[in-house]
Amino acid sequence: MFDPRVNGALVRSAFYRPPRKRTSDLFSADAECVFRCDGVEHPVLDLSASGFLFASPNGKIWNPGAEIEGQLIIHGEPVLDSKVRVARVQALATGSRVGVDAQQTIAVIDMLELDADRAFRAGLQAGPAAYANLLPKNYLDAVSSIKDFLLYYRPLLDREESRIRAKGDHERPLRDLVERSFETLDRRWRQLVTDASRAGWELRADPAAHHAAKRYTEATITPLLKGCPLIDRTWNKPLGYAGDYHVMEYYYRDEFEGPTAFDQIMHKLFVQNPMARGVVSRARFLVELMDAEHERLARSGTSEFAVANLGCGSGREVQIWAETTARRGPATWTLIDQEEEALAVAYQIGHKAIRGAERPAELKLLHLSFSKLLRHPEAFKFEDQNYIFSSGLFDYLRLDRAQTIAKALYDRLVPGGRLAIGNAIGPNTNFWPPEFVADWPILYRSKDDMEAMAALLPGSAEVDVVVEPGGAYYFLLVRKG
Ligand SMILES: C[S@@+](CC[C@H](N)C(=O)[O-])C[C@H]1O[C@@H](n2cnc3c(N)ncnc32)[C@H](O)[C@@H]1O
Repeated sequence: MFDPRVNGALVRSAFYRPPRKRTSDLFSADAECVFRCDGVEHPVLDLSASGFLFASPNGKIWNPGAEIEGQLIIHGEPVLDSKVRVARVQALATGSRVGVDAQQTIAVIDMLELDADRAFRAGLQAGPAAYANLLPKNYLDAVSSIKDFLLYYRPLLDREESRIRAKGDHERPLRDLVERSFETLDRRWRQLVTDASRAGWELRADPAAHHAAKRYTEATITPLLKGCPLIDRTWNKPLGYAGDYHVMEYYYRDEFEGPTAFDQIMHKLFVQNPMARGVVSRARFLVELMDAEHERLARSGTSEFAVANLGCGSGREVQIWAETTARRGPATWTLIDQEEEALAVAYQIGHKAIRGAERPAELKLLHLSFSKLLRHPEAFKFEDQNYIFSSGLFDYLRLDRAQTIAKALYDRLVPGGRLAIGNAIGPNTNFWPPEFVADWPILYRSKDDMEAMAALLPGSAEVDVVVEPGGAYYFLLVRKG
């Protein structure tokens, strides 16, 4: 699967350089990390212990190799006062991006410490009113109703749970409590989420209000839900990002999970959100599409089928395919993910299902990021695919990136092959939990936005946009001409 021609790149990658991190990910929103040079403050975009990247307005010339004097500043305080060397300059329509190497080590840990201290002091001074004052009444009312719901039902359920536990044999009665209470709360909760989502959607046009709504919700609602496994994992992001394969597995399992009855009910209410249910319905939809393609191919006399899944996570589609579809011939699955843990789970689930159903299928797993795929297309031999799909990945990608990857995937199809790319639907009446409670922002796209993803494909490509049966995700469907 790997081409020795990229060995040079692999060896080069063995020499460690501290990774650059985006300042927006590293520091609090009010940190204002800038590089002051010649009296002008330039926003710093990313940073490591050895250098940083800053934005420069149009008209200013920066020469690679030149040494410049300046100060790196955060929260108004200089943290590095030394010469830096211009390493690279990228000209954009809006100005330049200038990458510099520092001649002294940048104390990123001290910067984080300073930022945490300032953020705490500012938070202490501001109080919730600093955010609430920026929010419209309908958003505050919606969040207030949700807070009332949680503050009312948590102690009520805790008391009932304690009463049941005190009686001895409690397993079945507790299960009854959880199931009965869920039935009662389900519709009420759904309405609350719809109201908050509608009010939250209106804030998207106003970045300051949207930011305030996130901060306000994360301060007043999220802590009430920390016992709920889904919210705990998405909020804490142990793998560095919210929608990891573990979260997807919560959706596929769709169970009451968590330490207390209240946590279990809330967890289930979140995994029953249409966006979460849509993860499962889209997987079935993708398998149905695959099966239709396989049938089409088999009718033309070839039964061998090649399918690739980019950003596969736990790759549940393999299991669904093995256990539910007709036997049309051998299939080779190529599952690609940047996350090793996800691939380990996908391997187990996929192999078990294929063996259990005795399907003639091969499973190839590629541990790589799509950016490597774009840089070294020749190194990864999974061309001539009959079907390529991706779900839960393009929702994170800017349009230009999405277009480039859509084209790269299209190029790997056989003529007549099919590409399916999913993305959460916008406007969205269910997006309040991920966006505002769990700090899981994604790009919600309209039908036109989906069509725009196909802009780099040749005119011969047949493009369509459909909604998967769960009604939560669009799919860009492309037939290679
Ligand atoms: C939201 S999950 C969706 C997983 C799966 N498609 C599903 O629907 O259950 C997104 C997946 O994309 C993977 N991913 C994120 N960035 C990636 C990249 N640059 N290259 C490859 N995979 C990536 C993540 O590791 C994660 O497993």
